[in-house]
Amino acid sequence: MFVNIFSKNYNIIFDLRVMQNRKILIIYNSGYGTTREIAERIYNILSVEPRFNIHLKKINDDIEINNYDGIIIGSSVRADQLLANTRDFLSLYKEKMLSKKIALFIVSLKANSSSGQKEVREKFINKLSSQFPSLKFMSITAFGGKIDMKKLNPVMQNLIKHVFVDANIQSFGSVDSRDWDKISKWAFELKKNWCINKVIFLIIQIFLLAF
Ligand SMILES: Cc1cc2nc3c(=O)[nH]c(=O)nc-3n(C[C@H](O)[C@H](O)[C@H](O)COP(=O)(O)O)c2cc1C
Repeated sequence: MFVNIFSKNYNIIFDLRVMQNRKILIIYNSGYGTTREIAERIYNILSVEPRFNIHLKKINDDIEINNYDGIIIGSSVRADQLLANTRDFLSLYKEKMLSKKIALFIVSLKANSSSGQKEVREKFINKLSSQFPSLKFMSITAFGGKIDMKKLNPVMQNLIKHVFVDANIQSFGSVDSRDWDKISKWAFELKKNWCINKVIFLIIQIFLLAF
C-alpha cells in the first residue's frame, strides 16, 4: 500500500512540493563585489530545474527570516574576521535561525589553496561556535577571494600587504583566487542535501498518512 501510494505520487510530489515549496534565502555581504558574484553563481545553480523558491538579498536589505526554510550566508573577511555586518546579522537573527537550515560560505584571500581553505574553514568553525554557540550550521566552507588593486586606495593597498604574505601569494598585485568548480560543487551538494532531507520528510508524512 505504502509503495503504491509513494510510487503514484512520487513525481508530482518531487516536482511540485519538494523543490518549489522550499524557500531559500541567499544573503551576501560584499565589500568589492567578490562575494556577490559567488552568491549569484550559487543562486543560478539553485534556480535551475529542479529548482527552489529562492531569493537573493544583500545583508542590509529588508529580510523576513521567518519566511525561509533555509538560509545561505556569504561573507568576505577583513582582518581575519567576518565583515562586521555579518556578525551583527548572526547576532540579531540567531534566535530566529534556530529552526532553519543554515549554510555559510566565507570568502578570504587566505583560502586560495586547499590547505588555506581548510585552515580558514576550521578557524571560523571555532570562532563561530564560541561567538554563536546556539547556531548549528549544516555546512561551512571557505572560498578563495579576489583583490582588484584599482578598487583599493593606497591606504587599503598597504593594509593588505600582510594578507598576501600570510596567503603565500608571492607577487603583490591584483589576484583572483576563486575556484568556480569548487563553488559550483558546494552549491550542488547543498541542493542535493536539501532535496534528500525534504524527500525523507515527505516519505515519513506519506507513511503516517498510509497507516
Ligand atoms: C582591507 C582588506 C583586508 C583584508 N583582510 C583579509 C584577511 O585578514 N584575511 C583574508 O584572508 N583576506 C583578507 N582580505 C581579502 C578579502 O577577503 C578578499 O579580497 C575578498 O575577495 C573580498 O570580497 P568582497 O569584495 O566580497 O568584500 C582583505 C581585503 C581587504 C580589502
